[in-house]
Amino acid sequence: MVYLTRREHFNGAHRLYNSKWTDEQNAATFGKCANKNWHGHNFELFVTVKGEPDANTGFVINAHDLSRILKTEVLEKLDHKNFNLDVPELEGVLPSIENIIMLIWKWIAPHLKTCQLHCIKLVETENIYVEYYGT
Ligand code: NI
Repeated sequence: MVYLTRREHFNGAHRLYNSKWTDEQNAATFGKCANKNWHGHNFELFVTVKGEPDANTGFVINAHDLSRILKTEVLEKLDHKNFNLDVPELEGVLPSIENIIMLIWKWIAPHLKTCQLHCIKLVETENIYVEYYGT
């Protein structure tokens, strides 16, 4: 079994705010992330797939195919977007990196034919990132 990771980059804005709560509760929980005029991050995305190298190509997945899937299924939906307003799948969902990484998994997994999705890592700042293994 070989694990292959591709790195991508995107920018996005969000606001962490629970509309069921008061402004005070939101500020106490989310701090500056509840700022009503949004804030942005430069995200780094690491997508790791696993599989056996194909006998004809030597590839677990053709890197061009993986790149195209990530471009179509992730970057075009998130890059330079406001996650609260521009992403229909996040309507009514707090756009935390935890929720975003699970959505990215749902977008990518069905498109992998020659290998399986193993892990996604989403880096929000140099001090924090999340990893998701599908469960
Ligand atoms: Ni943030």
